Amino acid sequence: MTLAERARRVIPGGVNSGQRSIPGLTDLVIARTQGARFWDSEGREFTDYHAAFGPPLLGHNDPDVAAAVTTAGATLGLAGVAVTEGEVALAEQLVELLPSVEKVLLTSTGSEATFHALRVARVATGRRLVVKFQGCYHGWHDSVSLNVISSPDRLGRPDPTSTGILPEVLAATLVLRFNDPEAVRQAFAEHGQDIAAVIVEPIPHNVGALLPTDEFLRTLREECTRAGSVLVFDEVITGFRHALGGYQSLCGVTPDLTTMGKAIANGAPVGALGGRADLMDLFSTRPGGPAFFAGTYNGHPNVVAAALATLRKLREEPVHEHTFRLGERARTELAAMYAGLGVPAVVTGYGSVFVSYFMAGPAPRSYDDLLANDAARFIGYRRNLVEHGIFELPLNLKRSHVSYAHTDADIDRLVEASEAAIRKTLAEGGAADLAHTSTMGGATH
Ligand SMILES: Cc1ncc(COP(=O)(O)O)c(C=O)c1O
Repeated sequence: MTLAERARRVIPGGVNSGQRSIPGLTDLVIARTQGARFWDSEGREFTDYHAAFGPPLLGHNDPDVAAAVTTAGATLGLAGVAVTEGEVALAEQLVELLPSVEKVLLTSTGSEATFHALRVARVATGRRLVVKFQGCYHGWHDSVSLNVISSPDRLGRPDPTSTGILPEVLAATLVLRFNDPEAVRQAFAEHGQDIAAVIVEPIPHNVGALLPTDEFLRTLREECTRAGSVLVFDEVITGFRHALGGYQSLCGVTPDLTTMGKAIANGAPVGALGGRADLMDLFSTRPGGPAFFAGTYNGHPNVVAAALATLRKLREEPVHEHTFRLGERARTELAAMYAGLGVPAVVTGYGSVFVSYFMAGPAPRSYDDLLANDAARFIGYRRNLVEHGIFELPLNLKRSHVSYAHTDADIDRLVEASEAAIRKTLAEGGAADLAHTSTMGGATH
């Protein structure tokens, strides 16, 4: 019996996260990672642009991060009481780096960070409603587990990613169009006094990349300020990957709370929630704080050591310069290649993130624009890329990532293999089996 078959006998579906079981790749078993590559249990090598949905910005098993974790593991276990020097140092750096962050708490995942952001917003305001945007993903908990990748017939109404969510919880989340300032103004005009929080990915990367307009982000800030609602930037993807200060340091709009995760620790399991001191002081880490906050593994020494080593490298080495340059090469050269073949494509992204949508331009601004993307071609192309030893996740609308460990030669190979893969996809007429991909009934990442 193969490992994948053994997995399916004892793990539902054979994988430990809902977006890891990929049609056509159900026998894949990962054996090793290093730098920009991973290898499967049969010894096949892949250049990795999936990057576990984003954490390893430095590349897999970065030696400096690995050494810091080993040292921490040899000297400091989880005491689970008081605080450690590493937690203090990490919090000080986050306060220094992110414009919105005056105080910060650590969690183990991004979902916990967004959960606590919304809970504390409700505590602070005494209000019920939260606003999210179609196409954004903020984790698996009930208040935000809706309207991520929705099929066309499910747009404009609650589209939960799971059954089992109480209808009254779904009803307390308003879903608006991204990049639509008028929709935001209207929602505030109608419900402003009931809106506890607005949560947004400043660039919705869970559907590839929708670049925000200045007016949209400014409108969120203005309406939240006017109504006394809490503005939450979910920077779990954009934080650290796009800039050490998060996307907020680039766009000039400062939220009240910021959620972080992924690239902060290069793959170690960590999330963080930071923001205005008056909001953060509502948590029960302060005696009498009304917003309960706990987690056995919060601030785990190994994870904190990984984060400190990652931040040191992001500050001291030209990580952003390198990854932004390779990201730009990927976007420009892929776009030129598709144009040369006469294949309608929009290659977009930001910094180290890129995605090829198979649709006519202009670049999409909101989720409904993405309905024009040819999903069969998107998935078929990526499945064919896998045959060339290049891994971009073969699921509709997923973004790809460049790391510090990728090289110019990797981008050369990406463009070359992409041409072969798209030619083959055109000859095949798209992907044969799209059963799993037309809707996102399950959560995304
Ligand atoms: C923007 C965003 N927020 C929150 C999360 C949830 O983070 P986690 O999977 O660590 O719980 C994700 C995960 O992909 C994300 O992309």
